[in-house]
Amino acid sequence: MSGTLIFVHSLLRYFVIILTIVVAAQAVMGMTGNKTFTPGNRKAALFMMIACDLQLLVGLGVYFLGGHLQAMQQPGAMANHYTRFYGMEHPMSMIIGIVLVHLAYKAAKSAMGDAQKFKRVFWFAFIALLLFVSQTPWPSKKDTAKPWLPGMAMISAPAAAHA
Ligand code: HEM
Repeated sequence: MSGTLIFVHSLLRYFVIILTIVVAAQAVMGMTGNKTFTPGNRKAALFMMIACDLQLLVGLGVYFLGGHLQAMQQPGAMANHYTRFYGMEHPMSMIIGIVLVHLAYKAAKSAMGDAQKFKRVFWFAFIALLLFVSQTPWPSKKDTAKPWLPGMAMISAPAAAHA
């Protein structure tokens, strides 16, 4: 069960990151080109939010079923980078990013002017994107690395020894 959830969580990262890039890019084009905020722009923000909410749900499953809460309660947990990253840093940063994505969608469906809407959507999506990309355990990360997808070979020292 936990293995399937980790696979889904790992795969969903690509949907989350690509959709957040699309929303931020559309907002930049809207701002610079003085464009109208279309239903398509609103839908892209909606899909980004749905992908994030699914990721949150699966992330919570992985967190509790994967024993990360118990690991955080062990003495010295905060001194161990792997335990601290998966038990606190990764979930907290990602939840903040997901809140920003919700604020982006709220702006997208609000009644404010189009220029203002693009600006708000851009900043919320852009900061969320920075959090998602920086806090994802890419294969190149020190101590916390995970493969591109579970089961794939690692390009750096595997973190599997901690799992
Ligand atoms: C948009 C947000 C998120 C992205 C892009 C993301 C991405 C990832 C990726 C790529 C992994 C490595 C999976 C693997 O191959 O083992 C991972 C692991 C993990 N994530 Fe997330 N995550 C997000 C949000 C969350 C949230 C909100 C939580 C918890 C509430 C969470 C909890 C975890 C945990 C506990 C692991 C470690 C899994 C394990 O190996 O036991 N993630 N995440």
